[in-house]
Amino acid sequence: MLNLAQSHRSIRSFTTQNIDDALLNDLLLSGLRSSSSGNMQTWSVIITRDETNKRQLYEAHGQQQMILEAPVFLTFCADVFRMREWLRVNESKQSFDDLLGFLTGAVDAVIAAQTISLAAESVGLGICYLGTTWWAADRIIDMLALPPGVFPVTSLVVGYPAEAPGLRDRLPLELLVHQEKYTRLSDAQIRQSHAEREQKAWARYNAIESVRQKLADAGITRVTDYYTSEFKYPKELHLRVSKMLIETLQAQGLWL
Ligand SMILES: Cc1cc2nc3c(=O)[nH]c(=O)nc-3n(C[C@H](O)[C@H](O)[C@H](O)COP(=O)(O)O)c2cc1C
Repeated sequence: MLNLAQSHRSIRSFTTQNIDDALLNDLLLSGLRSSSSGNMQTWSVIITRDETNKRQLYEAHGQQQMILEAPVFLTFCADVFRMREWLRVNESKQSFDDLLGFLTGAVDAVIAAQTISLAAESVGLGICYLGTTWWAADRIIDMLALPPGVFPVTSLVVGYPAEAPGLRDRLPLELLVHQEKYTRLSDAQIRQSHAEREQKAWARYNAIESVRQKLADAGITRVTDYYTSEFKYPKELHLRVSKMLIETLQAQGLWL
């Protein structure tokens, strides 16, 4: 288990081999066993195998090629709809149609997604998460016919790897782990502890010709400038998506 967890790498290229239903079911059963808040299991997962539906998701997720290659696409949702339906049929007091309900479901959903990821990797499958789930939440809700109280929080492509990438770099463990209280770093400590990451990330991005060209044309010379540039995670995008998420949470009855 330790070896498995410590050798994770995202897979973005897949063979044409399908995942049989029995194996997929086993992976989902592993997800079902995950811890969940109050054991309410306020999450759902939508399986997409159909090529036409996958193509729609491919468009919504910014045309990431791996979506077309992977045999299975999983959209994990916070889901208080099922719980609320149960309360309704029993004529119990209603609840959970609020931000806390959404966050509870979102944490449950992500925990299940990660259990399924590890289970998939343990049998030789590869996975990659898709952060674009947030970016396209409003469109995904329509595509997957998600009822009020259900909200997509993350997605996974799953399939047999057609690539064997090396391990990606990580920050030093001490930066993420604090003993008893949060430790803030001085500017010098920040520079020193991020130096290796700056070098590795810069080298990695420059090794991709299309990215190297964009960086050169825009006069970007540091990886931190790239992160917040128009090419990666610009502030304008964050504000636009944040506004859409609040509006969509309101529309799904999960904002207050
Ligand atoms: C929530 C989340 C969203 C992600 N979204 C994407 C994505 O949209 N496209 C992609 O290619 N990789 C995506 N990734 C994968 C990360 O880029 C990857 O985990 C990170 O670069 C570290 O690489 P590794 O997983 O191979 O160690 C995402 C990962 C997470 C956890």
